[in-house]
Parts: sequence; C-alpha cells; structure tokens
Amino acid sequence: TFPKRVKIVEVGPRDGLQNEKNIIPTPMKIKLIDMLSEAGLPVIEATSFVSPKWVPQMADHAEVMKGIQKFPGISYPVLTPNFKGFQAAVAAGAKEVAVFGAASELFSKKNINCSIDESVQRFDEILKAARAASIPVRGYVSCVLGCPYEGKISPAKVAEVAKKMYSVGCYEISLGDTIGVGTPGTMKDMLSAVMHEVPVAALAVHCHDTYGQALANTLMALQVIRMGVSVVDSSVAGLGGCPYAHGASGNLATEDLVYMLAGLGVHTGVNLQKLLEAGAFICQALSRRTSSKVAQATCKL
Ligand code: HMG
Ligand code: MG
Repeated sequence: TFPKRVKIVEVGPRDGLQNEKNIIPTPMKIKLIDMLSEAGLPVIEATSFVSPKWVPQMADHAEVMKGIQKFPGISYPVLTPNFKGFQAAVAAGAKEVAVFGAASELFSKKNINCSIDESVQRFDEILKAARAASIPVRGYVSCVLGCPYEGKISPAKVAEVAKKMYSVGCYEISLGDTIGVGTPGTMKDMLSAVMHEVPVAALAVHCHDTYGQALANTLMALQVIRMGVSVVDSSVAGLGGCPYAHGASGNLATEDLVYMLAGLGVHTGVNLQKLLEAGAFICQALSRRTSSKVAQATCKL
C-alpha cells in the first residue's frame, strides 16, 4: 500500500542549479523559486551556505534568501555544511537548514573535506545551536546506493550513518542515491536496513536519475514494507547533480513524480500545470531541454 499523501521536497533551486558551470543571474533563481511556490510545493530547498570557493554558483545565497517571496506554509531550507554556514544562513533569515553527510568516507572527504566522524561532530554543533534557535535540521546521507569513489556501499553502513545523524537530532533523514546507480532491489535492501535504526516516518528518499531508475526506486521506497517512505526529494525539469560526484546526472523530475502520484491517487498539493510552467521557465533560461518525460510529452514543440 501507498501513503495517502506524499510531501515533495523540491531541490531544483539548490541541487538543480549548483552544478551549472555558468553563473545564473540571481533574479532568475528568485523567479524560479517564486514560480515553484506558486505551484504549491510544500518545501523548496532554496540555496546553500557553502564555501563560494567550492561551489561558486551558490555564492549569492544571502541575496536569494532576501529576494524570494516567502509563502505562508512553505518552508525554504538551505544547506549548511558547518557552523559558519549555519550562522550565515540564520543571519540571512533561514528558518530551516539541512546538513549533509555521506555513507562513504571518500565521498565525505571530497564533498565536505572531512571524515564521516568529523562531519557528525560538526553537525552536532549545528544541531545544538539550531535547537536553541528552534530551527529544524534535515540530514542528508549521500551515496546510499553507491559511491563514485568507493563503489558499492553496504546497507549496514548507510544504517549506521543514518542512525548517527538521527541521534544528533536531525528530524528527517534524506537518503541520497547521489550517482543514480541504484535499482529497486538495492533500494529495498538499503531501506530495510535503515528502517531498523530510524523510524520510517523520519525518512525521505533522494534519487538521481543517471541510470533511469529514479522513478522506479522512488516507487519502491513508497511501498516498501507495509507502510513506506512518504517524503520524496525531486527537482523541477530533472535538473541536478553534485560537483563532487563526477558523472552524477539530474534528480528525479518533480513533474514525473507529481504525475505518477496523481495517477496513484496520492495527495501532493502540487499544481502540475504551474509546475510545468516553472520547468519551462528555467529550461529556457538555461537553454536546456527538460529531462522530465511529462514535460516533454506535454510540450507542443
Ligand atoms: P574547507 O576548505 O575544509 O573549509 O571546506 P575551511 O573551514 O578550512 O575554510 C576554508 C575557506 O572557506 C575559508 O576561507 C573559510 O572562511 C571558507 P578563507 O579563509 O580561505 O578565505 N568557508 C566558508 N565560506 C562560506 N560559507 C561557509 C564556509 N565554510 C568555510 N559555510 C567546506 C569545507 C565544508 C566549507 C567545503 O568543503 C564546502 O563548502 N563543501 C560543500 C560542497 C557542496 O556544496 N556539495 C554539494 C552539495 S551536497 C549534494 O549535492 C548531495 C545531496 O544532493 C544529496 C545526494 O544527492 O546524495 C545533498
Ligand atoms: Mg543530490
């Protein structure tokens, strides 16, 4: 059986744009976020407070936070890799943040320049300050179904890291198939292990579509073991990728997810037409063809 409703976490403005080589004008990012708000997405990850030396595309984080319309009932979390990023995010008005770790030591080193244990210590520091400021913190675990540097990652390792991040206080753990190599079979095995350590209500899945498996993997997550995961990350037009995961392509396209869930009778609250307009806007701005099959199918060109 499927959950009655699914919360979609739209990561396009962050995961979708962070990998773009050319710097995108800030007003264009703001317009995209405003259009996604209009489409009714309940959570829109807006930007990252990471080092501009590491990810130049996200250097305008404070301007993005200042410029977007903040719709009541919608949350606009931002990525914060360390305490410096957390402080800057709060100063820019962020009301929710996300920390990001990995189930792979080598990926952790490449992406955030520290070991898994060191990262959990950093997150703990952020979580203590966040608790004092009543700011909810989401936690990402990357490379849950494979790593660009280490290859296979065991479900037990994913469960161990997810448990640590949940124990330091992340209210939700988003399990990232960073390079999109998973299949419904590996997704099922991984989730079965993680569900022993973290309640399913606190889990989300974050699938990249490199091998064309993102929608199938997500569908598996929604129905795994009687009551499945009910929080799904996706990106408008299927934009996305991580600068530190070579070969990683876009995320699951939000349009395709919304279409599938509507067909299943699962409530999302998202207006597909308005979402398609947001996708068309950003693709035109980036001179890019959409990766969403639903958008391709409804495109009159
Ligand atoms: P580091 O070089 O070890 O940091 O980087 P440091 O503390 O030694 O500082 C070095 C310099 O960076 C200093 O400046 C700091 O002030 C500055 P300098 O003295 O040289 O002028 N700095 C900062 N500036 C702004 N904001 C900050 C910040 N921190 C330090 N927060 C660090 C460590 C974590 C900062 C770096 O590795 C980094 O920014 N990494 C982010 C990488 C990233 O954004 N990756 C993509 C997001 S994760 C993802 O896409 C996966 C996900 O989608 C899930 C999935 O798909 O699996 C979430
Ligand atoms: Mg990602």
